[in-house]
Amino acid sequence: MHHPSLLFFILPLILPLSASWPPSHQSHFTKHRRKSTAPPQEYVEVTRPLPTDSLPPSCTLLILSHSFGNTTDLPPTNTTYSPPPDCTWSRAVLHLSASANGSQHDRMAAVWLSEAELLRTSTPAPSADGVLWNVRKDVTRYSSLLRQSNLTLSVMLQNSVTDIYTGFYAVNLTVLYYSIAGNANTINAGSLPISLFPPNQKPTTGKFQSGPPPPKPKNPLKLDENPADQIIPISATGEEGFWFKIESGLDAVHQGIQIPLNTYRAVIEVYVSFHGNDEFWYNNPPDTYFESNGLPKTGSKGAYREVLVKLDDDIIGSVVPFPVIFGGGINPLFWEPVVSIGAFDLPSYEFELTPFLGLLLDGKVHSFGFGVADALSFWLLDANLHLWLDNGAVKVQAGAIKFESPSSCLERESNFRQLDGEFEIEAKRENEFKGWVYSSAGNFTTSVFTELEFENKVKLNKNGTEKEVEQDVKETKRVEIKDYKGNVVSTLRVERKYPLRIRSSSLPGARRNTSLVTTKLEQEVKEQEEDGNSKISLVNRLKSSGWMFAQGEDVLSGAATTSQKYQLQGSVCYTRRVLANNGVIQTDTEGFLCQTATS
Ligand SMILES: *[C@@H]1O[C@H](CO)[C@@H](O)[C@H](O)[C@H]1NC(C)=O
Ligand SMILES: *[C@@H]1O[C@H](CO)[C@@H](O)[C@H](O)[C@H]1NC(C)=O
Ligand SMILES: *[C@@H]1O[C@H](CO)[C@@H](O)[C@H](O)[C@H]1NC(C)=O
Ligand SMILES: *[C@@H]1O[C@H](CO)[C@@H](O)[C@H](O)[C@H]1NC(C)=O
Ligand SMILES: *[C@@H]1O[C@H](CO)[C@@H](O)[C@H](O)[C@H]1NC(C)=O
Ligand SMILES: *[C@@H]1O[C@H](CO)[C@@H](O)[C@H](O)[C@H]1NC(C)=O
Ligand SMILES: *[C@@H]1O[C@H](CO)[C@@H](O)[C@H](O)[C@H]1NC(C)=O
Ligand SMILES: *[C@@H]1O[C@H](CO)[C@@H](O)[C@H](O)[C@H]1NC(C)=O
Repeated sequence: MHHPSLLFFILPLILPLSASWPPSHQSHFTKHRRKSTAPPQEYVEVTRPLPTDSLPPSCTLLILSHSFGNTTDLPPTNTTYSPPPDCTWSRAVLHLSASANGSQHDRMAAVWLSEAELLRTSTPAPSADGVLWNVRKDVTRYSSLLRQSNLTLSVMLQNSVTDIYTGFYAVNLTVLYYSIAGNANTINAGSLPISLFPPNQKPTTGKFQSGPPPPKPKNPLKLDENPADQIIPISATGEEGFWFKIESGLDAVHQGIQIPLNTYRAVIEVYVSFHGNDEFWYNNPPDTYFESNGLPKTGSKGAYREVLVKLDDDIIGSVVPFPVIFGGGINPLFWEPVVSIGAFDLPSYEFELTPFLGLLLDGKVHSFGFGVADALSFWLLDANLHLWLDNGAVKVQAGAIKFESPSSCLERESNFRQLDGEFEIEAKRENEFKGWVYSSAGNFTTSVFTELEFENKVKLNKNGTEKEVEQDVKETKRVEIKDYKGNVVSTLRVERKYPLRIRSSSLPGARRNTSLVTTKLEQEVKEQEEDGNSKISLVNRLKSSGWMFAQGEDVLSGAATTSQKYQLQGSVCYTRRVLANNGVIQTDTEGFLCQTATS
């Protein structure tokens, strides 16, 4: 193994060492490099192009152009949004284009429209030469808001500018509007209950296609293909951003909402990110380990977190969030210039609430609440309630058929001697909800089955200087809609796995508070989606390895390699492979061929 010369210059100021010691428990670092004459580098999150990327937009609207300097403790920046006049569109894409003009920490940001979150994102950790990056997200699911005029659009990016961290973040936000024939959203809302019927569309064979993929076949159960008629935000007041801050496992946030009586479908979409002492929750040995070794425990409580979604105090869904790693996380050199999976476009999590409409359609206010099991400070969380409304003559009626109250189990095993040991957590949660909805489209029964499996193993060796983290999360979800005769009219099955592997060793350096940290990391999203007509599978695998020489939380030198393979297969196919070495992209190739056998 050779380590090419990626050497940084040491700046005189040394930040205090993170309180969690030994070094293998410290995970957030900062790079210091003196300004060179190099132009700002472009950072990327490896993903696929949007189906609309190859099309000319019908309209383009710049909605915000703002530079975020010292925004500590400031409220979000607001502007007024109105869609472009006389524009026909059925799909919308939010484009965030941003740059930093100096060295800075990675920062969290979000975009809200009328208090409903559209995008949760993070910045890279730029060095003195600055960086730039672009994020494109399909926001068609928020069409009902995007069609309204004079709404408040808010952007929060809490930055702090000092003599050392001089970087301002300049952000441009643009909405691109596309007109695509056959999109559900061009149909008048009055006929929408009909869209619960499956589309008359057969998947096309995608072999030997060239060019970007065409729009996917429509599934009415998917938010982006059948946007809601109304979106009600479940969010905080806005002075500190519209996200709720959760600081402990006992914190619960909730909001009372009375939904319209003509609602025939409801989905709750949750945005969540973890920071501060919980930024690396999956990395944590339990409290007893820190206590019996006499170590301070700022980031502990073990390695299990679960975001709970509650309706009137009953848990109706939960998610173990995908472990997004921000620009300064684990080894910041890994994320130059390929950022971790989800860092620029954090995933949101959907829960089908239609089976609960029997409960919700009583004309009363119901409480929608959230908590994070075992949370440490802090988590940022908010949600959007997507509602589909029936404008037909019949009053929507609904009733419960089956609520299998969530069954769950959690097992923890600890085994350690002094600083070495092994800690294991296994958890499982299952639930099944079923209810009928009688709307002007008829009487339909919606069944939702979800299963969540979680496994985390943290191993410490060599007197606590070697650490191994193995985490596996598997989520299975099935939604099925049947008509009154029992015929299945729509289905959606999603299986999602996201394994994480981190192996690191930390050796003390000769100078005080210095250490040499060597790390190997693997992060992956594996997703399978089936809707009766078509099947899509995604494998997005990132591998990083490298070393860094750090003093406290400052990275002084190091080397890193990151490779990523993004492979989508279905009625359309897309493959992208990227290899980055020491901050430079070596290869970046893409293809649109479908493979006959899965690799
Ligand atoms: C940034 O803002 C904070 C809070 O308003 C303030 O305490 C701090 O002095 C500001 N820093 C600079 C460099 O202006
Ligand atoms: C934002 O837009 C302005 C005007 O078009 C442009 O000068 C600037 O470079 C853009 N900034 C970013 C970060 O894209
Ligand atoms: C939006 O606000 C402007 C200025 O206050 C006003 O002229 C316009 O009529 C409003 N549009 C709508 C649709 O309310
Ligand atoms: C970065 O941009 C801000 C805002 O445009 C400006 O005030 C600041 O001086 C710039 N800093 C550097 C180091 O260029
Ligand atoms: C933006 O709007 C929110 C919500 O109304 C408000 O709390 C915040 O103070 C506003 N921001 C600014 C800079 O005025
Ligand atoms: C709708 O169907 C369900 C299940 O088949 C039945 O229990 C319910 O009574 C029906 N509702 C109406 C209003 O017909
Ligand atoms: C293990 O680490 C602790 C704390 O860093 C240290 O005090 C102890 O001497 C080490 N033990 C061995 C055998 O190296
Ligand atoms: C080294 O770390 C110790 C303990 O974390 C801290 O008290 C001390 O200030 C640090 N020294 C330097 C030079 O950073």
